[in-house]
Amino acid sequence: MKPLRKRLSWIVLASAAIMLVGWQAIAESNRVTFPSLEKLVHYTTVRRGNVTEHIMTTPEAIEAVKNGQPVPSGTHFVLVDYREGEVFRYFVMEKGAGWGGEYDERRRTGNWQFQWFKPDRTINMSENTARCQSCHQSQSGSEYLFTGYRIPRFNGTPIE
Ligand code: HEC
Repeated sequence: MKPLRKRLSWIVLASAAIMLVGWQAIAESNRVTFPSLEKLVHYTTVRRGNVTEHIMTTPEAIEAVKNGQPVPSGTHFVLVDYREGEVFRYFVMEKGAGWGGEYDERRRTGNWQFQWFKPDRTINMSENTARCQSCHQSQSGSEYLFTGYRIPRFNGTPIE
């Protein structure tokens, strides 16, 4: 029999490891980076109760969608969620060559990855972005975008 103190320290270590694994199942960073917002074009606004969402992407992506072309790799789509005039959070989607291969097929959303950034632009580590993907999977016929269909009508003024 090992001394009690030694066994206890193993128990402490094992629980710490289990907690860490549990935490990792929720929190995740991935390939999504926070974009330069000033380079993006605000093409539509969605209002719901006290929430105002400004949705934006690159001029290149807008051009591609208007021409019926796939959105280029490296594209960001950002949803800036405002509550009472302040940024509450940023939802970001980014497309990268081969990025879909990092997820199994049930979770995959083409080559798009998703991330939730806090107002200070750090990642919200308590979000599991599989949730984002499972909802956006319904839009597989339109680049996994919910508001992409508005882009062809965009002529400089955000579509409401
Ligand atoms: C339950 C469904 C659902 C979940 C979960 C969800 N979204 Fe969305 N997302 C939407 C809808 C619907 C829109 C269109 C805007 C609106 O109606 O608010 C949208 C819009 C967006 C947009 C703007 C581009 C587009 O598709 O029109 C981004 C970026 C985005 N979501 C990222 C995220 C991220 C990141 C997460 C997870 C942290 C997430 N979404 C979770 C439904 C969802």
